Amino acid sequence: MIEAEWWEYDDVEELAEAAAGDIGFIIESALDARGQALIALPGGKTPEPVYAKLARTKLNWKNVTIIPTDDRLVPITDPLSNAAMIAKIFLPKGARVLPITTEKAADYRMAGKAADARLQELHWPIDLVVLGVGADGHTASIFPGPDLDEALNGPKARRALGVMPDPLPPEAPVARVTLSRAAIVSARAIMMVLTGQPKRDMLEQAISDGASSTTPIGRVLAEADQAIDIHWSA
Ligand code: 6PG
Repeated sequence: MIEAEWWEYDDVEELAEAAAGDIGFIIESALDARGQALIALPGGKTPEPVYAKLARTKLNWKNVTIIPTDDRLVPITDPLSNAAMIAKIFLPKGARVLPITTEKAADYRMAGKAADARLQELHWPIDLVVLGVGADGHTASIFPGPDLDEALNGPKARRALGVMPDPLPPEAPVARVTLSRAAIVSARAIMMVLTGQPKRDMLEQAISDGASSTTPIGRVLAEADQAIDIHWSA
């Protein structure tokens, strides 16, 4: 059964404050325990205020490595680039921000293989994966489409893969690279940030359906042993 704990806030400002506090605490604990921290952060619009607050936290940022949970196959200069959004906020703090895509990949599956190879070199398990969720139930870039089964059920050692969402999401209609379900659920902690009643209703349904959910997020969380902290505001 999926163990989910909901944290509700009056507005996004409050959500950002609390989620940033929790992420900062997890980073600090990892730094204390192991001298380094590795976290994965999503793109999308919801987490930006969280990141702005997190970046103001006093931490030994130079020992913190941040990867995107997923990225769009666009040049790093493109406004759709998740790595660029994250780097803009955390590079000035001294954190190491590692993009998981390159501009040169011949196709999205190759891009996924390159990302996987790069991620194998990091120090796993990852301390924290933060997930956003789309209204359609995608998470990271695990979308309905031809690569869904591989994202969910590929070899456990595969950290990342390329995906072509079908249908393409209108807000960013491009191929992606994403952490696999196995990589996500291997994290020491998993946190979600989302806003709005429709996403809440969808996520509650996905959690109650678990492994039989038709949504990627339900299928991902169904394999998680850890309790999931869900930060939500209207
Ligand atoms: C991406 C994300 C994706 C995102 C959701 C929610 O790059 O597209 O990582 O999984 O978290 O689409 O996005 P919003 O927060 O913008 O609604």
